[in-house]
Amino acid sequence: IVPDYVKIVEVGPRDGLQNEKTMIPAEVKIEFIDRLSATGLPVIETTSFVSPKWVPQMADAPKVLTGIQRRKGVTYPVLTPNLKGLEAAIAAGAEEVAIFGAASESFSQKNINCSIDESLKRFEEVCQKAIREGLRVRGYVSTVLGCPYEGDISPKMVATVAKKLYDMGCYEISLGDTIGVGTPLKMAKMLEAVKDVIPVECLAVHCHDTYGQAVANITMALQHGIHVVDSSVAGLGGCPYAKGATGNVATEDVLYLLEGLGIKTGVSLPEVIKVGNWISQKLGRENASRVAKAMTPK
Ligand code: HMG
Ligand code: MG
Repeated sequence: IVPDYVKIVEVGPRDGLQNEKTMIPAEVKIEFIDRLSATGLPVIETTSFVSPKWVPQMADAPKVLTGIQRRKGVTYPVLTPNLKGLEAAIAAGAEEVAIFGAASESFSQKNINCSIDESLKRFEEVCQKAIREGLRVRGYVSTVLGCPYEGDISPKMVATVAKKLYDMGCYEISLGDTIGVGTPLKMAKMLEAVKDVIPVECLAVHCHDTYGQAVANITMALQHGIHVVDSSVAGLGGCPYAKGATGNVATEDVLYLLEGLGIKTGVSLPEVIKVGNWISQKLGRENASRVAKAMTPK
């Protein structure tokens, strides 16, 4: 049994671009987001209000968020690790923000320079202020199926961190396989633990495709009742603090999977392929989506 409808959360402009070494002009990012907006995608994660010392590529966050043409019915969440980020995001007109924690102590230190406990205290403040100001907050848990520094992560730890974010007021918790090491069996065990403490309607999966298991892992997640899937057009992406991890699962590959299962998304696969080919060309790289490659005439 799988859901009838899946909400795709496109993370290409954020997760997809944050790891690019060469600076991409804000104008290109804005055009990228506007092109994605026209494909039927309901959610486009737009940028990150993080420290420019940590992630230089996202230093133009205010310019990008204020420069896009917001389309009715599309939401444009942005990452905010702390109050400073939240305030800047609000000033730039953000309506939805995302806080990002981890189920691994070492990854938390490397990614946001604090322990899991400290991060939860910060997120609590961010959440309270955001909700008070009328914003919606999404929560991420990273390293849910493995950590680049600690290896295996217990499903119980994932459930504990996810529940804390949920109790703070996050409307949705996205479970990140940050380095793409998961397998369907690991995904099933992790989801069983998280579903014990959070309603499945409030969960999303965020799979990187390093080991080529993302489509299999997502299929397993769908069978567990998950109906929100994060993905990145052309398979762009990677986390600067997770060495060797490749991009997110390609949006094109997820759409092909879902169409094959008879699941509606409201997103046009041919249009997404065009945008993926366009941005890949701008970045001077090959489109990493197998589906896009197969469906693009030679
Ligand atoms: P820190 O160095 O401990 O922070 O970094 P700090 O408070 O000491 O500040 C240091 C400097 O940064 C100061 O500037 C601050 O003003 C500035 P200075 O006084 O030295 O000139 N600063 C900021 N500037 C702009 N916006 C802000 C901000 N905050 C501080 N919000 C911090 C702590 C959290 C800020 C830093 O570690 C950081 O920005 N980390 C972000 C890392 C990141 O973006 N990682 C990638 C996203 S997560 C991901 O990809 C995983 C995910 O996809 C899910 C998955 O795949 O699993 C979501
Ligand atoms: Mg990610």
